[in-house]
Amino acid sequence: MVGEKNTEVNEIIRVMNQIHGIDISMYDESFLLKSLRKRWIATGVKTAAAYPRYLEENSTEAAGFYNSLNINYSEFFRNPLTFALLEQWILPKLISQKAVGGEIRVWSAGCSSGQEAYSIAMLLDKLTTSGAKPIRVRIFATDTSQSALALARDGVYDKNTVQNVRLKELHNYFTAKGDTYTIASRLRERVNFSTYDLLDQSSANPPESIYGDFDIVFCSNLLFYYKPDIRHSILQKVQHSMSGMGYLVTGEAERAFVEKIDRLQLVAPPAAIFQIKKM
Ligand SMILES: C[S@@+](CC[C@H](N)C(=O)[O-])C[C@H]1O[C@@H](n2cnc3c(N)ncnc32)[C@H](O)[C@@H]1O
Repeated sequence: MVGEKNTEVNEIIRVMNQIHGIDISMYDESFLLKSLRKRWIATGVKTAAAYPRYLEENSTEAAGFYNSLNINYSEFFRNPLTFALLEQWILPKLISQKAVGGEIRVWSAGCSSGQEAYSIAMLLDKLTTSGAKPIRVRIFATDTSQSALALARDGVYDKNTVQNVRLKELHNYFTAKGDTYTIASRLRERVNFSTYDLLDQSSANPPESIYGDFDIVFCSNLLFYYKPDIRHSILQKVQHSMSGMGYLVTGEAERAFVEKIDRLQLVAPPAAIFQIKKM
């Protein structure tokens, strides 16, 4: 049974590469299998085994299959426990460790349409403007999806998208117009959105950030799409971009992947927040 599954997935990887020129070999096998099931049902192909043939003959479906692998779903304050810990404990601690005039650097890696970057921007704005200590905040948010980045830069969300935002933050950081909510320009100016592929071997961090040294790196809800060795290389990259005291935040379902990395340790179980181990 397992062998059969491997055959179909391998066949799809081959067809996408050889016929359509798209490399999907970096994706996790069970993720590819789930996508394969969804697509063969959606296309009305009779069996999963017949789908690779259909894909071979149909370039529109190849584009559809590839699109189904690029999942851009995001939420404001996704993983409420993680954001509560950031707000109550980690950010106040980071601020207290910074010198007057110092800088807090954040990277939202795989930021999609910007909700993660704007969520941390709201918390940092609140904590750095209410405190006596002036601290600069720089947030770099990157993705490979141009359409997601365009939405992020616009910062216009519909009312369903902002339902996790507390009323106070909604009032302070958004302008409501009809059913849409637009991010305040002072928050938008704090976030630098740019294109960056986490699989890019030629750079250690987004060029816009010049150097890494991030106090917080979000690498959330994208690791589970990749096969283990690719996940590992993404985690190596983000680890090297963190400051010595920096934090890595992943999706809760991805915690187990990071727990396998020797140099990283959970700092606030059960939330998926990690720090580099002190040797
Ligand atoms: C499911 S969304 C998660 C968004 C956000 N981090 C969150 O947790 O809500 C995954 C995002 O990761 C991006 N992504 C996937 N692989 C990437 C890569 N190799 N480099 C940069 N971004 C990537 C996708 O384009 C997508 O926007």
